Amino acid sequence: MCGIVGFIGSQQAYPILIKGLKRLEYRGYDSAGVAMIENQQFNQYKCKGKVADLESLVKGKDVDGTVGIGHTRWATHGVPNDVNAHPHLSGDGQLALIHNGIIENYATLKEALIEDGHVFKSDTDTEVLVHFIEDIMAKTGSDLFEAVRVALCEVVGAYAIVVMDRRFPDRLVCAKKSSPLVIGIGTEGDYFIASDATPFIEYTKNVVYLEDEEVALIDRHSGLKIVTIQNQQKDPYIQELEMKLEAIEKGGYDSFMLKEIHEQPRSIYDSIRGRLNLNHGMLKMSGIDRHEEIWMNANRIIIVACGTSWHAGLVAEYLFEEFARIPTEVEYASEFRYRDPIIQPGDIVIAISQSGETADTLAAIELAKDKGAFIFGVCNVVGSTISRATHSGAYTHAGPEIGVASTKAFTAQVAVLYLIALSVADKRGTITKERLHRLMAELTSIPDKVEEVLKTNAQVETIAEIYKNHRNALYLGRGYSFPVALEGALKLKEISYIHAEGYPAAEMKHGPIALIDEEMPVFVIATQGHSYEKVVSNIQEVKARKGKIIAIVTAGDKTVSELADHSIEIPKTDDSLVPIVSVIPLQLLSYHVAVMRGCNVDQPRNLAKSVTVE
Ligand code: F6R
Repeated sequence: MCGIVGFIGSQQAYPILIKGLKRLEYRGYDSAGVAMIENQQFNQYKCKGKVADLESLVKGKDVDGTVGIGHTRWATHGVPNDVNAHPHLSGDGQLALIHNGIIENYATLKEALIEDGHVFKSDTDTEVLVHFIEDIMAKTGSDLFEAVRVALCEVVGAYAIVVMDRRFPDRLVCAKKSSPLVIGIGTEGDYFIASDATPFIEYTKNVVYLEDEEVALIDRHSGLKIVTIQNQQKDPYIQELEMKLEAIEKGGYDSFMLKEIHEQPRSIYDSIRGRLNLNHGMLKMSGIDRHEEIWMNANRIIIVACGTSWHAGLVAEYLFEEFARIPTEVEYASEFRYRDPIIQPGDIVIAISQSGETADTLAAIELAKDKGAFIFGVCNVVGSTISRATHSGAYTHAGPEIGVASTKAFTAQVAVLYLIALSVADKRGTITKERLHRLMAELTSIPDKVEEVLKTNAQVETIAEIYKNHRNALYLGRGYSFPVALEGALKLKEISYIHAEGYPAAEMKHGPIALIDEEMPVFVIATQGHSYEKVVSNIQEVKARKGKIIAIVTAGDKTVSELADHSIEIPKTDDSLVPIVSVIPLQLLSYHVAVMRGCNVDQPRNLAKSVTVE
């Protein structure tokens, strides 16, 4: 939700800011803006639309300045338009501020500021914050750094901000709470600030992740200083980044989503690499091993997550119950956090999040922690807020996921949750060694099987052509394939804007069957395994009502292939691993339908990659 970037140093800021904004555009893309300081004046430009629109606006204009800030927005307060775009200026025009998050008490602050004579141009909470900082500076005579600190003591909500004062072009001030912010320390006195490290990875690998309620002053002459909003001095903790530039580029693909779909053989391999060694019969999950006692005594697992990560959690429910025999519940983080959930001794809460920044998941973690639960995180982004808020965890190692629709993160999450379930089952003695080794071997073969499924791309594209103009679609699956049905439907609706629903196949007769006619495409995961015959019956029910069946079947299957209008073959694997393989054609299908409908697959409307507001 909103990408923010700042630069101060020896180079021109604008080229760094605009390139950085393009890399952060996955976080929000309804308006964008930049401001640089030159001769104690702002060169400021902002507009509705994407970063490319901002670039066109700025063409030929004065963009000089070796200090500056930039923002790409996902609107919360106020519609996306030029005025609401960031940066926002203080009333006296001396300060410029960019913000990611929500200032929850902005209305109260605004009322008081209006009484004091402040006039606002936008509908945003951000403009209130910059006026509030200006007000503190005027009333107390403090400098920007101190005024930001004092202001943030009064602020309720989430923020990552960067502020500059045009009278002091040697300084930038930034701060964060519940929204991410990282500072890159370059050579020759260059400093970068951004929502994630992607804007500056070609310049430096040395980074400081700001903690919640920390305020940083970056001064060209004296360097970096960090204090908490309670005014305690902090020593900057410099870490080395592992991210590579290639990982955040499209690498010859038309979109990040297509690239990320095709990366899955590699990303799944990376998620299991080093954790599983067939030759030595080794299965090592250090986050589990370190807390063996807790897992041995677990009475219940509660999984909290949102969206696609919640679907991965649903797969994990089956895995934990089947292999580790631990009762498991899967909760939407947004619901869990506002109930008064019962947490008992022996409960483990697993939080799943690609970004590691999702506000609802983070709040669910804090609530469960307060109630005494042990929290285990499954995150993709190393060093993210959620990964730091948990007691232990496992990274998915899928590499940066930039397409807004999650693809490789899902398969990596399921692979890691699979390893966790097997590891816990092994420790608790709920799985035989023979079965454990067979499943480990099968998991090892999954990257190759996914590679095989990617070869169905041309066939999937043909099917997409046939159904691209339909207005609705149903997705059905049973057992391990039910979460895949939900995920297939989510992928279609979020990037092609076609209404789609996922259901457990048997549930169809309790309502959704009324929707079926010759206009309704029904995607069914009908692989051979536990409930194959039952799914075949469900397919018959759809056919009897003239629905169109597009089935994902096990290679060589005759029964379903004869019944279905189209069938896509995937290699045979254990039921428990089908989700990782069967989701691939559904991802490809959504991608092709969206492209054929002229949709922007990487930046679907109204969405953003990292949902840091509730
Ligand atoms: C869908 C999608 C979202 C995310 C959800 C949670 O394609 O990407 O539904 O899965 O916003 O995000 P994370 O996993 O970052 O917590």
